[in-house]
Amino acid sequence: MTGEEVLKCGEEYLMQTYSRSPLVPVKGRGARVWDVSGRCYLDFLSGIAVNSVGHCHPRVVAAIREQAGELLHCSNLYWSGPQVKLARELARLSGLDRAFFCNSGAEANEAAIKLVRKYGYEHGKTCPEIVTFTNSFHGRTLGTLAATGQEKFSKGFTPLPGGFRHIPFNDVEALRGAVTPETVAILVEPVQGEGGVYPATPEFMAALGEIRAAHGVLLVYDEIQCGLGRTGKMFAFEHYGVRPDVLVLAKALGGGLPIGAIVARDGVANPFQPGSHGSTFGGNPVACAAALAVLQVIREESLVEKAEQVGWYFKRRLEELKGRFQLIREVRGCGLMLGIELDRPGKELVALCEERGLLVNCTAEYVLRFLPPLIIGMDEVDEAVSILAEALQEFRKAC
Ligand SMILES: Cc1ncc(COP(=O)(O)O)c(C=O)c1O
Repeated sequence: MTGEEVLKCGEEYLMQTYSRSPLVPVKGRGARVWDVSGRCYLDFLSGIAVNSVGHCHPRVVAAIREQAGELLHCSNLYWSGPQVKLARELARLSGLDRAFFCNSGAEANEAAIKLVRKYGYEHGKTCPEIVTFTNSFHGRTLGTLAATGQEKFSKGFTPLPGGFRHIPFNDVEALRGAVTPETVAILVEPVQGEGGVYPATPEFMAALGEIRAAHGVLLVYDEIQCGLGRTGKMFAFEHYGVRPDVLVLAKALGGGLPIGAIVARDGVANPFQPGSHGSTFGGNPVACAAALAVLQVIREESLVEKAEQVGWYFKRRLEELKGRFQLIREVRGCGLMLGIELDRPGKELVALCEERGLLVNCTAEYVLRFLPPLIIGMDEVDEAVSILAEALQEFRKAC
């Protein structure tokens, strides 16, 4: 199919849930993708924080090929080697105990919500409530939309399930005031992604730890976007030293294959017993083999340390751009999860970058977001920044 044929077919046969650029990628290697006409792009979006070890990493591809040749699917009525190994590895890395696998971020948050609700009932709550935050994003299922702190995502989809209380993010006073005897858990992204790349403050995360100690409330961290090395630590919570009771992962975990996971400490994982929750495809052997390879690559190529170092350099280069372009209001984020807040909507800037061979995206309307693969070096940062500078010059003239 030519690019035009793909677009025409998509416009005719797909539900139009995305406002897509006309780009049709057909090949990816490392930090680069090629479109259907053979044009190459520097990918600073990574499928929205999915291709963290780069496109088609040979180890990940080999693990997928090998597992696909042995067993594609195995019901959760039986045991699976790749699944149990991945559970063990995630427990080891997070310091938690037990994992449950599913197929996406939203599903993983659903599992976390169900787990803590059941925990709440088993600990004497009559109507367990979960505290979540304005500007958060937790997914597109009804439960995760109810948890999400941005009404634009749930418009037209009400009624949503109850049991969530939204309070302002990074507001310690509001947090302390929100906890009631019915509060079972606090669900938070340590770095808000879709909301516009907002890291939690150390005071806020410390307050979460204090509230847990005082009230026995569970801490659930949605690290679907900010986890697995993205922020320059294996998990974003390590920046703060406040461990979760339940950790939620997806996106980068499968290196491009769909997988989601929750990992919980022992006492908290117990409410899930045979029959409580499940997923036909969750923990699929091919997805788990890919995830094991991703974790191995992260370790062997020191990608967490790299994300931290290259992230600092990238942030400094973005600060320089801020000095040159008044339309940049703020540079935010950590590691390789960075954003620049603009004084105007950034959609056109994304298109200008793309025309010049750089893939980025705009979130929360005003924030240009960078989520490059963790394998990038300073050279690629320089290349991206010079394309961005050109695009900003054009953008400033045009708007
Ligand atoms: C923090 C966070 N939670 C949940 C989700 C939903 O994940 P998925 O799209 O895999 O359902 C996302 C996706 O962007 C996310 O960034």
